[in-house]
Amino acid sequence: MVRPRVTVSRRLPPAVEARLQERYDTTLNTTDERMSADALREALESSDALVSTLGDPISGELLHRCRPRAKIIAHFGVGYDNLDVATARDMGITVTNTPGVLTEDTADLTIALLLASARRMSEGERELRSGNWTGWRPTHLLGTRLSGKTLGLVGFGRIAQAVARRARLAFGMQVMAWSRSLTDELASQHDVRRIAALDDLLRVSDFVSLHVPGNVDTRHLIDARRLAIMPAHAHLINTARGSVVDQAALIDTLANHRIAGAGLDVFEQEPMVPADLLALPNVAAIPHMASATVESRTAMGMLVLDNLDAFFAGQHPPNCVN
Ligand code: GLV
Repeated sequence: MVRPRVTVSRRLPPAVEARLQERYDTTLNTTDERMSADALREALESSDALVSTLGDPISGELLHRCRPRAKIIAHFGVGYDNLDVATARDMGITVTNTPGVLTEDTADLTIALLLASARRMSEGERELRSGNWTGWRPTHLLGTRLSGKTLGLVGFGRIAQAVARRARLAFGMQVMAWSRSLTDELASQHDVRRIAALDDLLRVSDFVSLHVPGNVDTRHLIDARRLAIMPAHAHLINTARGSVVDQAALIDTLANHRIAGAGLDVFEQEPMVPADLLALPNVAAIPHMASATVESRTAMGMLVLDNLDAFFAGQHPPNCVN
């Protein structure tokens, strides 16, 4: 039997690549360099499936320029804002993603950024590495404690729920959440307070953590006006998508100490991050690595395989998004 031809846009964990090669006629990206839009188009035209990853620009315009042989794009990642899923659907291309398996690791890293921002860890590390530390003193690099403080979650999907659990049980925080779809029942199941208006959540939270998908509805959800609502002692954590925050407004807000700090895993134009942002002492920044554990990334790859296997067996893939 002829094996379906699969092209993979980036290196995947070894166990995943090995299994793909066992089951499919697989073309791996051995250089791990980002594929250009033209290379992605060619892959869609010459393969039965494309395994895409975050940042692959599969726009409606690219799809329209394409005569795809591929009938499935099995995306490696939970967020798929790089993909025009509606156009793919109209062209008869199934799109799948990899939810669930990265929830706990992403929540862990959200808490790590919360701590890093609250306790000025990035600032301390920069001081230490630059040789400017002059020793322990009682008033040096004082941060703020998490215990007893209020965490406001923007969005209340799986990852936000896992963050809420950690914040309540491990750190004794009071957790509130705003989400268009959050019901009182769901909020009370998770022991969080539902706030009906986003502005009200921002006004009263000591820490705000973003957990909404990146799309046209959430673009710049946190803009200059909303940043101005936050108290001056508040911290903003973003492990969702860079597009959710107006980054220029955030730089201005942080530079003028209108909020206390930010913990950022995601940026508006990845991998470009403005030098102005990185220079700010009150920013803890890491390069989009919230799900970067061997366990999560391997499980994400295995979900890609589950989706491909179901699709090529003529079944409905378990994580179809369109
Ligand atoms: C990572 O950001 C993902 O969407 O999986």
